[in-house]
Amino acid sequence: MSKILVIGSANADLMIATPTLPKPGETVRGHDFLVAPGGKGANQAIAAARLGGDVSFIGSIGDDDFGRNIRTSLSESGVDTANLCVRSRFSTGVALILSETSGENMIAIAAGANDLLLPADIDAAACAIAKASMIVCQFESPVATIERVVEVAKLSGVPVLLNPAPARRMQDEMLDGIRFLVPNRQELAHLTGLPTRTLADVEAAAKTLLFRGAQTVIVTLGPEGALRASADGACVFPAPIVEAVDTTGAGDTFVGGFAAEWCRTSDVDAAISFAQRAAAYSVTGRGAQASMPWLSDLD
Ligand code: RIB
Repeated sequence: MSKILVIGSANADLMIATPTLPKPGETVRGHDFLVAPGGKGANQAIAAARLGGDVSFIGSIGDDDFGRNIRTSLSESGVDTANLCVRSRFSTGVALILSETSGENMIAIAAGANDLLLPADIDAAACAIAKASMIVCQFESPVATIERVVEVAKLSGVPVLLNPAPARRMQDEMLDGIRFLVPNRQELAHLTGLPTRTLADVEAAAKTLLFRGAQTVIVTLGPEGALRASADGACVFPAPIVEAVDTTGAGDTFVGGFAAEWCRTSDVDAAISFAQRAAAYSVTGRGAQASMPWLSDLD
């Protein structure tokens, strides 16, 4: 089976549901406090594994209960955690998440041990990278580390899917090593400095990233679906209609689902439709990993 190697963050998610998101200086009463394993890297690894991928995860956690819960959650979903490093003097990363009744959310993270995932760790994993069928990474780890991931994968000819979240500007040199760039609307605006309000705006902005070196840009647009831009043109994929309860981790479910299906079929458009079904399923429940589907849930 083809191997998906996810490299990135793992956090403990501290979540509160609120009727509305607070404005600066405002306090709102929330409910349903939840502590759950999360982090974009771990979430994407779990989504890909539950959806049938053969997945390994490289990340960094503290020697604490949060870290142990993350390892358990990864293992229970079938992710290989042999390369999940434990940093004894650091805390596991934490994400404070407020999620509004409408499904919107707000997240602040303290990276903790995630910041200890360094370029040297990537060099040490060069063999695993070379043997993978796809590398999946995000921007919750130090930028130098992710740059190194892209360099090593490019040297080995292994395709890289980058989810540029949280948003960060990128050099063209790095974009040139990306097979699949998967931003959401806000991240696309940040990456390009262009408006992304309408679908026409999104298409124009995505195309500038193709000119700068990315091979395929897939923009996730929540209930509006997804837009794929590549050398053979652009295409919009409408989203399945569901009632969203909590969108935390929906983008991660999309990324994991896309990776699993693309590694199975090598069909980009089929992988987008599959990822959309998985992401739509995930927004119907609370929590990032708790609401991610298994393959049988999508039947
Ligand atoms: O994408 C959702 C994730 O972002 C959460 O699980 C949180 O940990 C933050 O990393």
